[in-house]
Amino acid sequence: MYIFKQDSFTKFETEALLFGVFMEKEGASRALDEAFEGELQFLYESGDLSHERGQIMKLHTFGKVSAKRIYFVGLGKQEELTKDGLRKAFGKAFKQLANDQVEHATLAVDSLTGLQISNEDAFEAIGEAHALSPFVLNTYHTEKKKDTVFTELTVIGESKESESEITKALNIGFALGEGANVARRLVNTPGNLMTATDLAAFAEGVASKHDFEIDILNKEEIESLGMGALLAVNQGSDEPPKLIVMRYQGKDTWENPVALVGKGITFDTGGYSLKGKEGIIGMKMDMGGAASTIGAMDAIGSIKPKENVMTVIPATDNMISGKAFKPDDVIVSMSGKTIEIRNTDAEGRLALADAITYAKTKGAAKVIDIATLTGGVVVALGNQVTGTMTNDDEWLSTVQQSAGETGELLWQLPYFDHYKKQVRTSHIADLNNSPGRAGHAILAGAFVGDFAEDTPWVHLDIAGTAMAESEHDLGPKGPTGVMARTLAKVIMNEAK
Ligand code: BES
Ligand code: MN
Ligand code: ZN
Repeated sequence: MYIFKQDSFTKFETEALLFGVFMEKEGASRALDEAFEGELQFLYESGDLSHERGQIMKLHTFGKVSAKRIYFVGLGKQEELTKDGLRKAFGKAFKQLANDQVEHATLAVDSLTGLQISNEDAFEAIGEAHALSPFVLNTYHTEKKKDTVFTELTVIGESKESESEITKALNIGFALGEGANVARRLVNTPGNLMTATDLAAFAEGVASKHDFEIDILNKEEIESLGMGALLAVNQGSDEPPKLIVMRYQGKDTWENPVALVGKGITFDTGGYSLKGKEGIIGMKMDMGGAASTIGAMDAIGSIKPKENVMTVIPATDNMISGKAFKPDDVIVSMSGKTIEIRNTDAEGRLALADAITYAKTKGAAKVIDIATLTGGVVVALGNQVTGTMTNDDEWLSTVQQSAGETGELLWQLPYFDHYKKQVRTSHIADLNNSPGRAGHAILAGAFVGDFAEDTPWVHLDIAGTAMAESEHDLGPKGPTGVMARTLAKVIMNEAK
């Protein structure tokens, strides 16, 4: 998708030249100064042109170089520029290009020398920014608003030496960003248009695009597996549940797959523990975990790492009716463990419990569950940090490392023994789905962890991070597609 051309940035004809500006004015920057016969200095002095990271400045070139316009991208000090700093700075640049409706731009590789990070990291970050930041959410206005349009990007450099490294990294970055965009669109789609059946149909599309194997288990199959926890959540609904299972085989044989388990509650009313009229708004996003696993699979399908992956998505809405499950009910999960229902609004952990058991019976060697699970995690960590828990520090460190590479923030919550005991304090059943308010983000994780048992497991609670409260450098206000990139990265790192 990206084309590399060997050329000098002063001589290359283009609508828009993207040019990185560092505090250290060296190399390419000097050459540009010369082309402008020193006049750029006035712009620096007046502050119109700045090396401050994230500052974008558009300049008409009046024929001093072959590019019509230069978009200067402030990058700060070379030694202080991180992968995420570069990603966000270019996020701003690609947004600006989209706003200006620039169809084709050119990136001056030679303006990006002297980086402390590797070429691989740098161009991957730029590819991610390219896909993420101009993204426009799907809407349902009768008069069509604008759609996402990606500016086509050519890359130019004086030397062809790292051409393949650069284009490969850009393509990987773009695929990661596109995966997140898939998740964003899914989350943005309202519950009436995104039932369990709709979600399954979408997953089928992704599977056929990448040639994944896919099984969509219907209600009868879910019943015969004995998934009493998922079925309890679905009980009040007119929409049948689905268990969506996708497999990507990156190794020669199907062995030791990593399982990505995503909460797919297509709308969460709370059930009989009904949410209030304020709290219920936005609950179409309760399939955000599922969306991120599907987005990750889309990226994985493009990048093709040598690892085996399985996604398991328990999909249903959580509704009320004469048939719905109730507080005090006791249900039997697929694992055989019995659960006392204390709160029908603590439904995500029920759906996840059976999905994790299913993944284990299908040979999952390691599990990551991802869910918009608790309001508690939002209170604890806010909207920019995903809460995580684990029963295996090594597995968590792989996830943390991957999140470090994608710039998605994680913070570990404790998993002490007393939490493990607390989810087992029911007088009438093995587990209690809502043992209390204090520390409830952790208790929700501990409930899920009970079903992971001794399989290495990492839990990601994205209730706070699945939605952005305002526009940001890498995308619009609304669904973020959080962790889709990180999950794909985990699989890439596992394949190494
Ligand atoms: N889907 C919600 C969690 C949620 C809340 C996501 C806010 C996004 C924003 C989850 O099913 C839920 O209702 N959790 C309850 C758990 C409680 C009943 C123990 C919560 O967090 O209040
Ligand atoms: Mn709920
Ligand atoms: Zn929920």
